[in-house]
Amino acid sequence: MPLFYGWYIVGVGALTQIASVFSLSSTLSVFLKPVTEDLGVSRGAFSLVRTVEVLISAGIAPLIGPVIDLYYLHRVDPNVPIEETVGAMARLVEQGKVRYIGLSEAGARTLRRAHAVYPITALETEYSLWTRDAEKEWLPTCRELGIAYGAYAPLGRGFLSGNIRSADSLTPGDRRQGHPRFESENLARNVQLLKPLEETAAAKGCTPAQIALAWVLAQGEDIVPIPGTKHLHHLEKNIRAVDIELEGADLAKLNETFVPGSTAGTRYPARQMGNMGR
Ligand SMILES: NC(=O)c1ccc[n+]([C@@H]2O[C@H](COP(=O)([O-])OP(=O)(O)OC[C@H]3O[C@@H](n4cnc5c(N)ncnc54)[C@H](OP(=O)(O)O)[C@@H]3O)[C@@H](O)[C@H]2O)c1
Repeated sequence: MPLFYGWYIVGVGALTQIASVFSLSSTLSVFLKPVTEDLGVSRGAFSLVRTVEVLISAGIAPLIGPVIDLYYLHRVDPNVPIEETVGAMARLVEQGKVRYIGLSEAGARTLRRAHAVYPITALETEYSLWTRDAEKEWLPTCRELGIAYGAYAPLGRGFLSGNIRSADSLTPGDRRQGHPRFESENLARNVQLLKPLEETAAAKGCTPAQIALAWVLAQGEDIVPIPGTKHLHHLEKNIRAVDIELEGADLAKLNETFVPGSTAGTRYPARQMGNMGR
């Protein structure tokens, strides 16, 4: 069972060395910030066709090698027809710069339109015990079309490790301070959801983070969790989640508490929520 790791743990230098061992996937905005700056390309125009082409040809090759295995559009630009953007991404495949293409935070209708232009290999969208939005429409659409699902932030941005119990534990500059779910009042309510997760972890002799990942893995072989960490000891522990078998009773206990919609606060600030599932 594969477990993907985000760019945050892997320096660009390391990428050149491991490229032959691991598959590389990239989204445009996070990784390419320095490149967009060098080229003077607006980061606000991530999905514009020209940006996609310019960044791939000028930016990626010198950094990690000539080919990206899986290249995601991050995010769908409402001002550019998805057919146009996917058409440009398909040309990158034809040119041998990219092997497969994916979308991030695309809605069901967009996925269908995109897939009609060129096969979409994966959708990368948030999914975890406390973020179940995908179950309603996006995940079923992926399954219908045979598209894999990359579950980003499967640890609830650290919340599901049980280590963040009050807003005070976030240091200044931590991006989660701007996330409604981590605001004091919401966080206090969300912490109450952790009990069954921690009980299950204790009963199985593992960590809540491992159970959170095992839960994502248990949702289907077509779902690949993408946990992030800056710490090797977390990475080593998290990888062990692939060996954890959650039984029906364990899953039921977790599902009864983390009922879709039970999390207090939206997963992104209001101004960003409009860009999700477009
Ligand atoms: N496509 C998109 O729009 C999008 C958006 C966001 C993220 N992503 C991708 O998804 C990946 C994961 O997202 P994410 O990092 O925001 O959220 P996440 O994986 O849900 O959570 C990461 C957080 O959990 C902590 N953590 C990890 N393992 C832990 C452990 N064993 N015990 C305690 N704490 C642990 C990390 O802290 P430490 O660093 O201290 O371990 C970090 O703060 C990113 O690397 C990125 O590639 C994609």
